[in-house]
Amino acid sequence: MAANNVHYDEKLAGVYDQMYPIEFDTSLAVDFIAALAPAGGRVLELGVGNGRIALPLAARGFQVHGIDASEAMLAVLRKRDARNEVVTETGDFTETGTGLTFDVVTVVLNTFFVAVTKEQQLGCLRLAREQLVANGKFILEAFDPAPYHAMEKQDFSMRHLADGAVMLDTLAVDRAHQLMYGTHTIVDGGRPETKHHVLRYAFPFEIDLLAELAGLRLVDRWEDWERNPYTARSPRHVSVYERADAPA
Ligand SMILES: C[S@@+](CC[C@H](N)C(=O)[O-])C[C@H]1O[C@@H](n2cnc3c(N)ncnc32)[C@H](O)[C@@H]1O
Repeated sequence: MAANNVHYDEKLAGVYDQMYPIEFDTSLAVDFIAALAPAGGRVLELGVGNGRIALPLAARGFQVHGIDASEAMLAVLRKRDARNEVVTETGDFTETGTGLTFDVVTVVLNTFFVAVTKEQQLGCLRLAREQLVANGKFILEAFDPAPYHAMEKQDFSMRHLADGAVMLDTLAVDRAHQLMYGTHTIVDGGRPETKHHVLRYAFPFEIDLLAELAGLRLVDRWEDWERNPYTARSPRHVSVYERADAPA
């Protein structure tokens, strides 16, 4: 796959923590993931990025592996990982596995949607299934696409990054193909550059169906990492799957 989200070049990798502030709900996510793995167990994060989740998990004694398509994001992770605790691999998680098995495999923060066809999404789920131990758990966090699917006009927003630096974002939806086209432009006094990215959003029931085709079954679905109930109004979901051949 042309991993479209290698749009995380050095410039975007450099401001990633301002785009997704680390205090957002990282510690809740880490608690949730830790509760599903045995002490000292093995965790694989797909799209591990700069280690926002992987590093605190490793600090709790888990053996953490991460795969990512962006060298720039992995370079930030390695710099932060003074004790070399997280094993990283450059690769496309829709096409390549690690050849190893894990107690928990995770894909968080809508990263699943970077797979821009249903075949790529199925590929990601098949590989997740393949890399799970018999009683392992696969955790997927994603937004609920309903408000985006209903979008009629292009959206424009701006966020503050730092003193003298803002990011301009646009978002347009192609409902017929379940695709979202976004741009990020950093305005910081340097030459503004626009990065494009594409997501294929999927409703939870489609993800469940693809997961079934991949040999996974849904165990739990929550609104967030605090295990609040998932309802028709939930803006996102944290879903837990296990291998379909795991004892029920
Ligand atoms: C939104 S960031 C999430 C990073 C990290 N998981 C976190 O929660 O902070 C998405 C990450 O997925 C990576 N990525 C995008 N497409 C990928 C692909 N096909 N295979 C592997 N990594 C990919 C990007 O480089 C980026 O680091």
